[in-house]
Amino acid sequence: MDRSTWLKERRKMAEYRYDAIFSRDYDEKYGRIDPTHRQFVKKLLSLSPAGCTVLDAACGTGKYWSMIRDGGRSVVGTDQSSEMLKLAAKKHPGVPTAKIGLQEMTYTDEFFAIMCVDAMENVPPEDWALVLGNFARALKSGGYLYFTVEVAEESEIQEAYRRAREMGLPVVRGEYAHHGGYHYYPRPQQVERWVAQSGLEIVEKSVGDGYLHYLVRKD
Ligand SMILES: C[S@@+](CC[C@H](N)C(=O)[O-])C[C@H]1O[C@@H](n2cnc3c(N)ncnc32)[C@H](O)[C@@H]1O
Repeated sequence: MDRSTWLKERRKMAEYRYDAIFSRDYDEKYGRIDPTHRQFVKKLLSLSPAGCTVLDAACGTGKYWSMIRDGGRSVVGTDQSSEMLKLAAKKHPGVPTAKIGLQEMTYTDEFFAIMCVDAMENVPPEDWALVLGNFARALKSGGYLYFTVEVAEESEIQEAYRRAREMGLPVVRGEYAHHGGYHYYPRPQQVERWVAQSGLEIVEKSVGDGYLHYLVRKD
């Protein structure tokens, strides 16, 4: 199978897995907010004007929405999984939600604050520049984006690559695919090149709770 067909299938599968499997007990299993994530969301909120609207892209079940609303900001949630969005809407009936993929966002000059938490591992290398470009376009000048990049051991990455190639899958280094799912773990230098290419500037970077955390700004 050629790589672009395979990636399309992986993406469909990710949507299916969140709709049919992970949404069942996502909040019970993953509803807790880790300290580093909390710290970065707090920082994002403190850098955004009171009363503004935060875009939570790939929002899942809206885990951070109480924090955002208690912090005096409104929120809009987008995700490609309608079941995850349904759970978010049930917990926060007043919050607007939309089924929009990270790759399909067309917001322009709309937000002082955007967050994309624990989701970029679903984005293949081919789409990183597109997604970061979508964030950059959606931000207002002077606005901030907080996003995370999941961390994996180099030995695990190499083993995942070896096993996937053995199975004949058209993977590149950094991709995990042999369990039927899909995750991509880019090197930090590569992430930082994509950030720079999208015209955004890194203002803070930190590792914690299994992720690299980036706070970036649009001039
Ligand atoms: C691990 S959950 C994180 C959800 C939420 N941000 C949180 O921190 O709890 C990953 C979310 O990303 C969504 N997702 C995965 N790939 C996506 C894509 N290409 N576009 C939009 N959403 C995506 C999934 O449907 C899922 O809701």
